Amino acid sequence: MSNVTVIGTQWGDEGKGKIVDWLASRADIVVRFQGGHNAGHTLVVGDQVYKLSLLPSGLVRGKIGVIGNGVVVDPKALMTEIDRVTAQGLVVTPETLWIAENAPLILPVHGALDRAREAARGEHKIGTTGRGIGPAYEDKVARRAIRICDLAEPETLDWKLDELLLHHNTLLAGLGAETFTKEQLKDFLTEITPRLLPFSCQVWDRLDEARRAGRRILFEGAQAVMLDVDHGTYPYVTSSNTVAAVAASGSGVSPSSVGFVLGIAKAYTTRVGEGPFPTELHDQTGRTLGERGHEFGTVTGRPRRCGWFDAVLIRRAVRVGGVSGIALTKLDVLDGLDEISICVGYELDGQKTETFPSAPGAQSRVKPVYETMPGWKETTAGARSWAELPAQAIKYVRRIEELIEAPVTLLSTSPERDDTILMRDPFED
Ligand code: IMP
Repeated sequence: MSNVTVIGTQWGDEGKGKIVDWLASRADIVVRFQGGHNAGHTLVVGDQVYKLSLLPSGLVRGKIGVIGNGVVVDPKALMTEIDRVTAQGLVVTPETLWIAENAPLILPVHGALDRAREAARGEHKIGTTGRGIGPAYEDKVARRAIRICDLAEPETLDWKLDELLLHHNTLLAGLGAETFTKEQLKDFLTEITPRLLPFSCQVWDRLDEARRAGRRILFEGAQAVMLDVDHGTYPYVTSSNTVAAVAASGSGVSPSSVGFVLGIAKAYTTRVGEGPFPTELHDQTGRTLGERGHEFGTVTGRPRRCGWFDAVLIRRAVRVGGVSGIALTKLDVLDGLDEISICVGYELDGQKTETFPSAPGAQSRVKPVYETMPGWKETTAGARSWAELPAQAIKYVRRIEELIEAPVTLLSTSPERDDTILMRDPFED
């Protein structure tokens, strides 16, 4: 028996919600280890629809939810989410939700700076969610973040706020944006402290205890490898590492606790925000994928850019992300297409290459080299076994496995939880 870590292998929105929900029902504890409320997924349980950004999905299944130290926590967004799911009947208490006391906070200055900087970037904007994620991570690394444990020490807060404001107000003023007073931030913190502090604890210690007791832990990644701050399409990325290795450092457990790494990949590709996307389709096929796949951002509602499956990028995500097996989602969106293409390499400045370059200029110049296969007319939606899949769809999945050098261990054929073909149970690995 193993723990399981779920990560996205493309640019996010691969349909993690359904897979994580299915796995969460088999886990004891579900841990978020990076990102913040820039993530978003929708869980459908019975007649209830839960929209989660920051809370670990396991809470919906009555499991313990953990927010690790690698997450940046917007306390207002967290409380709003807790209030919303509580109104829907979930019970969120310090017994069911553990938040790392060493997690950094997202404060109103961070969102303001994120948005002011995006506005100033003009055509080079990143297309962030505007939620202060980048500035909050910058403060953590610069050692000026306010962490949850600081809320219990008014004398620490006092000097940390001075340092924080000196930095942020200088930047905000330079960008022509409104600055903040110490009183404003103090009022904000005074309001959230009594609600937030009771949830905070030494998460690493409790997870260690859980490990000794043989409890199953599911680590729930947010965003995806191509948005990783080191391995993604920098600078068009998020501000955290999204690879599976971070499940350990972002929650305070041993690297060996990460367990089976399940990488989620959509049967085609989507991206929200700006940045390179070699297989993006600007034609009717791209629009068809977007319409059929309901490709609109969960957090911002922005339409997602759509394109063919890029096997080169996913092979890279498999390697750097430490992926043991792939959960392939939304295969049914390809039903009925005459032909389906897979990107198997690139052309860069007239040269063939199988490597995605690192510099942004070269990344935006690469042209995909496609392998095209016939599509299938039958529907794959709702299939629950290989036998129910058209032969051509099976060929497509098998070709993907060869190209990305990883097995497809789970196949999702509709948003319904049971419309899943399981080849290998990751918890039993
Ligand atoms: P940030 O994380 O808000 O700084 O945004 C940086 C980039 O990551 C932007 O392109 C966002 O659209 C993208 N991004 C952040 N979170 C998600 C997500 O959960 N799904 C898809 N894209 C995301």
